[in-house]
Amino acid sequence: MDIIEIIKKRKSCRTYSHVALKPADKKNLESFIIEDSKGIENEVVNFRIIEKNDADKQLKLDYGMIQGQNTYILGTAKSTTASRVNYAYLMEKVVLKATEMNLSTCWIGAFDTTYFNDVFIEDGFDIPSIVIVGYSDDKPTYQDKFLRFSVSASKRQSWDKLFFNYRSKTPLTPEYVKKYSDSLEMVRLAPSSGNTQPWRVFFDETMNGFHFFKKSINKRYELRGMHDIDMGIAMSHFELTSLQNGLAGRWLKHAKENVDPIDDLQYIMTWECE
Ligand SMILES: Cc1cc2nc3c(=O)[nH]c(=O)nc-3n(C[C@H](O)[C@H](O)[C@H](O)COP(=O)(O)O)c2cc1C
Repeated sequence: MDIIEIIKKRKSCRTYSHVALKPADKKNLESFIIEDSKGIENEVVNFRIIEKNDADKQLKLDYGMIQGQNTYILGTAKSTTASRVNYAYLMEKVVLKATEMNLSTCWIGAFDTTYFNDVFIEDGFDIPSIVIVGYSDDKPTYQDKFLRFSVSASKRQSWDKLFFNYRSKTPLTPEYVKKYSDSLEMVRLAPSSGNTQPWRVFFDETMNGFHFFKKSINKRYELRGMHDIDMGIAMSHFELTSLQNGLAGRWLKHAKENVDPIDDLQYIMTWECE
């Protein structure tokens, strides 16, 4: 299936049908997870699918009410920006695979980690975020609709607020970036914590690359590393769309001194076009 269609189809689901994953779906996702374990700079994340049943206690969340779910995908990552970015970059590929399989998902950033007590967490690591996966209940609850409304879940910032020319700092237009317009548009449609959309992308014509920067929008999310997760998600959208459009490239982290500081933004990584 076309990656652009999959990205457009994905939306957070908060009302599930209380049904466990069908064995074929679980197997399919598990195989994908194994293939998808090596990420940026070859850092490995081993995701697991964890199933609970309705009789188990419910997962406590900081925001959003989720109902009827019983399947979670999660792993651990070092408590650093780079590892969280990589975690999300790999996990979003699982999310998009699930979407392609007609499964519903929701990223969860703030949750009660003791709920997953059986997951071994090494020193210096944590579970930066999880993803709920399952079958959507066709009738979203009032809370589901309210949450979508309160974070304007279907809305995204316009191009001129997100994408810029690295030298002039003026906004980019789809006409200007031509073949990369889909890649940036798919960044724009990415999910983010509280729909904060902290990604700022700068096109560097001299080096023929796209520098990804993070803007801290919400202090609480930033402290919890959620904006790092948002960045990794956006990077996977950019990469998958570019590759599908025949635009090869690779992720590279430039030394800080080689990247111009831009306002209050934090440099994350660069997509170097081939
Ligand atoms: C890192 C991250 C953490 C999130 N945490 C939560 C959460 O704790 N509770 C929740 O209901 N939604 C959570 N979301 C879902 C966002 O609210 C949602 O992606 C955003 O509002 C955009 O809506 P959409 O996913 O339907 O496009 C999270 C999303 C991301 C990317």
